[in-house]
Amino acid sequence: MLDYKALKQDFPLLSSLDIVYLDNAATTHKPRRVIDAVKRFYEEINANIARGLYELSVKATKLYEEAHELVATLIGARSWTEVVFTRSSTDSANIVAWTMVVNGIVRENDNIVVSIGEHHSNMLPWKMVSELTGAELRFVPVDERGFVDMNRLEELVDDRTKVVAVNIVSNVTGRVNDVRRIARLAHRYGAYVVVDGAQAVPHMKVDVGSLEVDFLFFSGHKMMGPTGTGVLWMREDLARELAPPIRGGGAIRSVRVEGSSLKVDYADPPWKWEPGTPHIAGAVGLSEAVRYLLEIGLDRIAKHEEELTRYLLSRLQELGEVVEGVVGGWDTERRLGIVAFTVKGMAPHAVALALGLRNIAVRAGFHCAEPLHRFLGFNEGSVRASFYLYNGLEDVDSLIEALSGLVKRRGES
Ligand code: ALA
Repeated sequence: MLDYKALKQDFPLLSSLDIVYLDNAATTHKPRRVIDAVKRFYEEINANIARGLYELSVKATKLYEEAHELVATLIGARSWTEVVFTRSSTDSANIVAWTMVVNGIVRENDNIVVSIGEHHSNMLPWKMVSELTGAELRFVPVDERGFVDMNRLEELVDDRTKVVAVNIVSNVTGRVNDVRRIARLAHRYGAYVVVDGAQAVPHMKVDVGSLEVDFLFFSGHKMMGPTGTGVLWMREDLARELAPPIRGGGAIRSVRVEGSSLKVDYADPPWKWEPGTPHIAGAVGLSEAVRYLLEIGLDRIAKHEEELTRYLLSRLQELGEVVEGVVGGWDTERRLGIVAFTVKGMAPHAVALALGLRNIAVRAGFHCAEPLHRFLGFNEGSVRASFYLYNGLEDVDSLIEALSGLVKRRGES
């Protein structure tokens, strides 16, 4: 296991509060070095990027570019120019969806294949594309453990499929999909593979080269970076050739009025994908978070979370009848640090509220993945515990103790 007790000391809020924080799939805490990097940026630099010739602007530009380089290193991108900064995973997914429309890639009579296991942010943008273009939306089911059903995927993808949208790790079941296998199948039909990495990139080694995907997105705030930061990675040829859907200043080489038309020459990627003043301080904070992650090592973080997940599932099992079900089942195969469950006779929100009163932070409801919950028969949602590198066995023990206390009290009343 990681030395989580020592790591926790790096997080000012976590180490000062008496809280069992198990809501890391929603957002993670920020280490002091990330907070300090953001503060230092505003106190010592605070200039816009790529515009000024004065020292502060040059410094800001360098830091902002460096942040792209660090993220590229984290995900094994061939070049930092493939890394686009956005506001969030949702923002990134919407940019990809609009890109498909603006470039005429998805048209009437085409289809888009989306896993039913997706977060709403990798589902709703595709509904929009379907409505705008007339393309058919096809849902690929998952098996009872939450993995994308490969047999059904084979049946659903055809030569009119333009996009296959899946996650690497589900934000509900924690299952790790075989994305490379999915990508190979989709590519046989010439479809683009759009991958939600929000619950994967912060928790395990993700290498875009070996995944063989076309687009990957994830959030900064779920990997200890500031809120309002997200990433969209895309293959370099796509970043270069496709027209961006959001346009404005800072993204062009030249703009000229010629008669009644506007001639626009776009800047090189990633700039053409990032019009407007970006969240520079956020990117600086994110790069510090990436440094921290690289120092600790993603493989070690994944192992740590797997161990906590195994421990939580075994302790939940000890509670016997109390737990009604675990979304995606009880086994630990290809599963990272997320466990969503239901408690007999208690609504998920009631459980989360009662846990909250005991300073245990979990999430309740559908976790922005309502179709998945309903598909797997969890019509009232679930209670979700999700881990990160600063969680330990004691956090699991506290959760179990609180859950057994809840049920005991219910039995007495
Ligand atoms: N997408 C985040 C979650 O699953 C907010 O909780």
